[in-house]
Amino acid sequence: MYSNLTIFYFTGTGNALAAANWIADEAETRGVKTSVIQITPSLKAIGFPGGTDSLVGFCYPTHGFNAPPVVINFLFRFPKGNNPVFLLNTRAGMKLSKLFTPGMSGLAQLFPALILGIKGYKIAGLQPMDLPSNWISIHPGLRQKVVDSIFQRCEKISKRFSAKILDGKNVFNGLLSLPVDLLISPISVAYILLGRFALAKTFIADSRCNNCLLCEKECPVKAIVIKNKRPFWTRKCESCMHCMNRCPQRAIQTPHLFVAVVWWLVFLVLPLFILKELFRLTPESAQYYNLIFVGVMIVTGFPVIFLSYRILHFFLKFRFFSAITSYTSLTRFKFWRRYFAPKMYLRNKRA
Ligand SMILES: Cc1cc2nc3c(=O)[nH]c(=O)nc-3n(C[C@H](O)[C@H](O)[C@H](O)COP(=O)(O)O)c2cc1C
Repeated sequence: MYSNLTIFYFTGTGNALAAANWIADEAETRGVKTSVIQITPSLKAIGFPGGTDSLVGFCYPTHGFNAPPVVINFLFRFPKGNNPVFLLNTRAGMKLSKLFTPGMSGLAQLFPALILGIKGYKIAGLQPMDLPSNWISIHPGLRQKVVDSIFQRCEKISKRFSAKILDGKNVFNGLLSLPVDLLISPISVAYILLGRFALAKTFIADSRCNNCLLCEKECPVKAIVIKNKRPFWTRKCESCMHCMNRCPQRAIQTPHLFVAVVWWLVFLVLPLFILKELFRLTPESAQYYNLIFVGVMIVTGFPVIFLSYRILHFFLKFRFFSAITSYTSLTRFKFWRRYFAPKMYLRNKRA
């Protein structure tokens, strides 16, 4: 059906690359000329085959019920065309006893599909894929046995999807959850506009950091800079979890107590104080109280988050503070497993 397949992928911990590889393998067995290309902040999509006999695919994780900003920016830069395209978003799959539980897409497919549709592309496939959740800041990595069984299940789903899409059929499995996706879409918007900047400030390197600089070198969006001989996460961070899961020393942590205190101050105490003491507003008396509350939270909150993160980073050079921050982080404990997709799924020889 197709003579070419070009898959663009972005990944934090390998799931989206594994999915891209499965589809590429299937295409190659059918004699389709295939390229698998990593999306980076500076990638320009030029030179890939155009026309209706060249299929284009996008594989990426779901972040905050949306596609990662690096993917959205890439799609905005993407040239106009008329190729058929498919979108595959990997989500937070889990397994409870024998039950595989799905993640949630929100706008992760709909928004990219809208951008590509406006640019003239024909949407031929929307496929979510529930690979292991990699959000290690909020839960320990899944056990290896569970990871393996989730991968085996997804490989089968991917085979079915690839066979249909490469036969020229339309596959819209992603639309099965449309009502829920639309319902949670306000969270997707809030995440992309605001939430991701707060999350970018939830990483530190503790005293185990030996300055190997692997995190800085491998960051897929070049968001880590070295300050005071320690990695510092800039607002470009996409919280993709690559650094935390790859650090050979397990030195990268989420400082849970620090984050809890700062977020409690920023998202509750500070706006309540400002509205009550400075503006003399009470929930009963002000008609637009909730709206004003959110406005005050945004205006005052982000400078406080950014400043407190800088202060924390400065104090981390003192052993005492470093120890307190580290010991009040859950990710430092041994039982808090890290996650990365199994190596066997991660080769990419087709770029
Ligand atoms: C910051 C962050 C936000 C996430 N948000 C979602 C989400 O909204 N819905 C979901 O199903 N999974 C979510 N996940 C889980 C990942 O999308 C999922 O584990 C994905 O398979 C990771 O793919 P990758 O290894 O290619 O990065 C999130 C993960 C992170 C780190």
